[in-house]
Amino acid sequence: MSGMIPRQFIDDLLSRIDVVDVINARVPLKKKGREYSACCPFHSEKTPSFTVSQVKQFYHCFGCGVHGTAITFLMEYEHLDFVEAIEVLAQSLGLEVPREKGSTPVKHQKKNNSLYDLMQEVSAYYQQQLRSNPVAREYLDQRGLSDDIIARFNIGYVPDGWDHVLKNFSARYSPQQLLDAGLLIEKDQGGQYDRFRDRIMFPIQDKRGRVIGFGGRVLGDGTPKYLNSPETDIFHKGSELYGFYEARQHTRKLERLLVVEGYMDVIALAQFDISYAVATLGTATTQEHVTQLFRAVPEIIFCFDGDRAGRDAAWRALQNALSVLRDGKEIRFLFLPTGEDPDSQVRKTGKAAFEAALSEESVSMTDYLLNHLAQQFNVSSREGKARFLEQAGKLLSSMPDSIIKDQLIADMARLTSIEIALLKQRNIGSQPAELQQSFSRLSDREVRQTPVRFAITLLLHKPDLVAEVENPEQIALFDLPGSGFLATLIETIEENPTINAAALLDRWRNTEYEASLVSLMKWQPESQNDEMLTKEFQDCMRQIRKKAHERKLEKLLHKERVEGLDSIEKRDLIALLTELKP
Ligand code: CTP
Ligand code: MN
Repeated sequence: MSGMIPRQFIDDLLSRIDVVDVINARVPLKKKGREYSACCPFHSEKTPSFTVSQVKQFYHCFGCGVHGTAITFLMEYEHLDFVEAIEVLAQSLGLEVPREKGSTPVKHQKKNNSLYDLMQEVSAYYQQQLRSNPVAREYLDQRGLSDDIIARFNIGYVPDGWDHVLKNFSARYSPQQLLDAGLLIEKDQGGQYDRFRDRIMFPIQDKRGRVIGFGGRVLGDGTPKYLNSPETDIFHKGSELYGFYEARQHTRKLERLLVVEGYMDVIALAQFDISYAVATLGTATTQEHVTQLFRAVPEIIFCFDGDRAGRDAAWRALQNALSVLRDGKEIRFLFLPTGEDPDSQVRKTGKAAFEAALSEESVSMTDYLLNHLAQQFNVSSREGKARFLEQAGKLLSSMPDSIIKDQLIADMARLTSIEIALLKQRNIGSQPAELQQSFSRLSDREVRQTPVRFAITLLLHKPDLVAEVENPEQIALFDLPGSGFLATLIETIEENPTINAAALLDRWRNTEYEASLVSLMKWQPESQNDEMLTKEFQDCMRQIRKKAHERKLEKLLHKERVEGLDSIEKRDLIALLTELKP
């Protein structure tokens, strides 16, 4: 098992590669002033709004809002995951990606590694149990599963009994590890017993093929029909898809993926040589699911039962998919006849007819969205139109700008016979103000409004300005919005003097700070001149200190009035009062 990639390696890598080269090799860039630009590869456009900054090692599209570093560019453009993107970049410099051993984060890693080992061993045990259990084999046979497909999906069986896993694995793993893996249940009176008993076992693999959980089906009509592993350190239902690994293994270059509801649907389709289906794990389709699928393929088809539950699942999937839909990506829906699921349908009609239905009977997401809403409201009445527009507008507001979205707005206008201009004037479907702001170029003045934000921006632009900060340890004690973050940023740069903006941004990837950092990153300082920048930064830090002092003074004065001060606070107050005098 491999450990984490050392932070230092990622920082070094990001300081050695040039995002301009990385992007230019894939999307030819033109130099325009200080920046490079091109038509955005992530949405269709005629005039270039995709810009790349060499100084910041950062790209941003003013049209659709995509942004990031060389790493995120590769992830999006070449459908790679984080580690794969690092590997591609390292390779371009002829470097090996090192893996961490020893020290603290590895402790967690090591624990997870043995969880992965445990799950793998348990899966092998279940498969071996299936081979020696005629009743379970008979069940799978009667459900029409071939030996090939049973082997491809590593299907297994756990016999009836309370302690098969407990007994077979307790020599090598502690009860706590078995509990952590979700394989045991703790008794109220103490002690544990096997979670899964007398069930067909479907191992769930992550993107790298490691077993992270199980789904277990009863052989007869018992309840619950399916029992899944609980969430564990390595199993997160909202981001895992059953069959994803198997599909990618089976087909080198996947063109589309089918999202179905059940384990047996994925397996039956694969048996009929439709080896591109995945299933969510008894949960709704999340944004995270859709993002991952779009990293692998440009087209997703949701294939659900035609019944009420299937339609509800489809609508929820649509709601979650809207915010990650981009031009160049496509989502379709196929509703099966009531009472059929993909498993029963493909057995009934066969591969060719099933695939024909996928192409001919599936509806596009936009048609589905408009029809679904138009059915709910009577769009021939004024009130109905208003309610239709309100609902559609709400849904559209989560979509980034795209041609698909423009077309939807045009369709809404047509359906209600209301002019597009009027819809636009009423901001129907436009993104909420705070989102829009992070997509639009921040003006110099807006940034200047708070010195803390301005300082962060200048540091991102030119990390070595950190040398200008006097008594950096004081900043963490300031009580200003964002000053805690500023202190952390300063500390990070001091610890990694050669770090650049892209590597800094990457540190806060997927955190609450990411969005604000990105919006600060887009800002261009007026002067490129080092001397001017240094002066601006010094000014700004002076203002921050002054503000922090004022704030502290206010607090102390308030406290003096309300409850009085102790001797240390009195001394602080006097010091502050003398310091602030001009
Ligand atoms: N599911 C679950 N828990 C249940 C029932 C269902 O987690 N108690 C999930 C499972 O992932 C299951 C999917 O929902 O595969 C679809 O459920 P259902 O349609 O009831 O099962 P099928 O896949 O049709 O299973 P089978 O054909 O074996 O009856
Ligand atoms: Mn079924």
